[in-house]
Amino acid sequence: MSKIPVAVLGATGNIGQRFVSLLQDHPLFELAALCSSERKVGGRLTDYWRLDDASLDPAVGEMELQPLDPRVLVRSDVAAAFSALPTEVAGNLEAEVARAGVGVFSNASSHRLETDVPLLVPEVNPGHIALVERQRTYKDGGFLTTNPNCSITGLVLALKPLADAFDFSEVHVSTYQALSGAGYPGVASLDIVGNVLPFIEGEEEKMRREAKKLLGTLQTTVVPSPLDVWANCVRVAVREGHLEALSIPLQEDVPEAEVARVLSSFRGEPQRRKLPTAPKRPILVRTERNRPQPLLDANAGEPERARGMAATVGRIRITDRNLRLLVLSHNTLRGGAGGSVLNAELARRRGYLA
Ligand SMILES: NC(=O)c1ccc[n+]([C@@H]2O[C@H](COP(=O)([O-])OP(=O)(O)OC[C@H]3O[C@@H](n4cnc5c(N)ncnc54)[C@H](OP(=O)(O)O)[C@@H]3O)[C@@H](O)[C@H]2O)c1
Repeated sequence: MSKIPVAVLGATGNIGQRFVSLLQDHPLFELAALCSSERKVGGRLTDYWRLDDASLDPAVGEMELQPLDPRVLVRSDVAAAFSALPTEVAGNLEAEVARAGVGVFSNASSHRLETDVPLLVPEVNPGHIALVERQRTYKDGGFLTTNPNCSITGLVLALKPLADAFDFSEVHVSTYQALSGAGYPGVASLDIVGNVLPFIEGEEEKMRREAKKLLGTLQTTVVPSPLDVWANCVRVAVREGHLEALSIPLQEDVPEAEVARVLSSFRGEPQRRKLPTAPKRPILVRTERNRPQPLLDANAGEPERARGMAATVGRIRITDRNLRLLVLSHNTLRGGAGGSVLNAELARRRGYLA
């Protein structure tokens, strides 16, 4: 398969840099344009690189930052664009790019709940990608797809196999969310050092609404899942990795060992199709009582390209039919750029990107 020219929109940001690190040596995609806000246009990505756990290809680091203008993308023959734009600007800019005939893979929330836009986690609802065929606004191969908020991805990865295997109608979740989830420079240091922030604007509602769409059934549009997610969202002084404590009232007796078996044997379409960024095992179950931890488990996943793409589950307990467990996932990889890259790999293999 020949490589497709792609662009990163918002390449200088937190998620944008993750996109570049995943795309700079990708087997299906080739970086053709890096776009930033006007104030950095003309500069070089190398001057803004902040990832301490991923190196920048020197040739990519020297690429000139471009304005976010669809004509620039068309001139570079870009067929797919990975968006790491802030929500305030993503809505219009992403639509303009799709109207120029480009397939957009977005991290922003602007289009996630539109009825003809797929909200995807490829292990959970790969069939929803067919919604792009119903997008009438975009011609010449252009379309919009999205991935969920970073706090949802690990949650739905765990909920999908559980909901397929057992009866339950609601989930209570408390999150311990990393600082990188707030972008750069993000939360002021004086607010978070030695502290915990008990409120993240809009997060709890997003978790409820996006989980319903992700776990819903595709008919003419997506019929939302009846499952209710009740969240308490909190920011903690961790760099990468959202930890979430789940409590699920089960409607039947289930052995703990069966929960562990269902989670660790879960595989989805990315694993069956061997997509390049798919982790061999999307959920790793740990039995130690002090796991998962962001410091030790955020980068879980193999092969090397899928580091940070597996969710880690631990502390599985059932008391009086109440299942409790912890889920950890990397918020800027699995919950951010890696999620969009996996969506694009799925789109390519399903024939939506030529
Ligand atoms: N962080 C996470 O864990 C996470 C996870 C999932 C989804 N998301 C979503 O992903 C998006 C990016 O998040 P982030 O954390 O990477 O934010 P960020 O660090 O603030 O980066 C934003 C990027 O967008 C660029 N930009 C801003 N305004 C622009 C404009 N008018 N035109 C063109 N480019 C513009 C910025 O360029 P400059 O550098 O020039 O300002 C920067 O490259 C957000 O929508 C966020 O909600 C984030």
